[in-house]
Amino acid sequence: MTLLRFGPRELHTTDRPSSTAQWTTFGRTLELGRPEDERIVSDAYAPVFLSGTSRRLMAPLRLAEPLVRVAERSTFSALATSGLCRHAFIDEQLLEALPEVEQVMILGAGYDSRAYRFRRSIGQRPVYEVDLAPLSRRKAQIVAAHEDLFGRARIQRVEIDFRTQSLRDQLTGSGFRIGAPTFVVWEGVSMYLTPAAVDGTLQALASVCGSGSVLALDFWQRVAGRAAYDQVRRVGERAMRVIGEPIGFSIDATHAPGLLAGFGFEVVDLAVATDMTRRFATAGRHCDAGMYVAAARLA
Ligand SMILES: C[S@@+](CC[C@H](N)C(=O)[O-])C[C@H]1O[C@@H](n2cnc3c(N)ncnc32)[C@H](O)[C@@H]1O
Repeated sequence: MTLLRFGPRELHTTDRPSSTAQWTTFGRTLELGRPEDERIVSDAYAPVFLSGTSRRLMAPLRLAEPLVRVAERSTFSALATSGLCRHAFIDEQLLEALPEVEQVMILGAGYDSRAYRFRRSIGQRPVYEVDLAPLSRRKAQIVAAHEDLFGRARIQRVEIDFRTQSLRDQLTGSGFRIGAPTFVVWEGVSMYLTPAAVDGTLQALASVCGSGSVLALDFWQRVAGRAAYDQVRRVGERAMRVIGEPIGFSIDATHAPGLLAGFGFEVVDLAVATDMTRRFATAGRHCDAGMYVAAARLA
């Protein structure tokens, strides 16, 4: 019997690039409409990665900017604010760690443009952008088509499916220096993996990164609660299945240091939604309790 399934197949079994990566670059593009001193993140490269649909959606939002600004302060926009604040947190961690590391690795890189935004600070350090093949290839095509904008950067693209392939194997031949101190970004990815893939990735990081490496990441946590928005969030979590990117992993913020310590990473900074709001949010916006960020150092 054939079972009917609505919506796209799960991301890692298709040849389409991630929709959630499109959402995050959309959020960073929308942020560019604000005055510079009000932006949580300022990513001039974000608009180049927009799909046709995103561009069509962006146009009316730009026209309705005053209304968008009001909506962005509501609880229903908190997740979008969290997405921006986690990016700002990781930017901060990257700049702090750079003097101590020899290379940068961005796992589930999506349309992350740090290799270009921080070109000067990164200097000669190579950047390894790791993602599923369809996303990696779309990004490579866009970057190649806009050489005037992106210029040249030392980027190696590594294709992987974290669920089925080993990071260590996939890095072979990429030039990645096993054992060198590395800054690792793992942003907006772990929630889409299985617990086994999360463990496998942390295990691989502990084996390929050298002592003093720093991992900056975010995690998703389940939030109990009866407020209207808590219920909307739970429905939203289930609805992620419809776009083929279901939530597969979450961990309470109080347990994250233990998980990371199990793989040799000591948490040096952890910010839950209230901290993220205080540290990075602007213009009356606030973060969602479901997302938090951490930075951890490999002993
Ligand atoms: C929400 S996006 C985040 C993109 C980027 N890090 C950012 O913050 O803008 C999730 C990313 O994880 C990647 N991803 C999801 N599942 C993956 C898997 N099984 N293996 C490798 N990458 C995966 C997607 O292709 C996508 O680029």
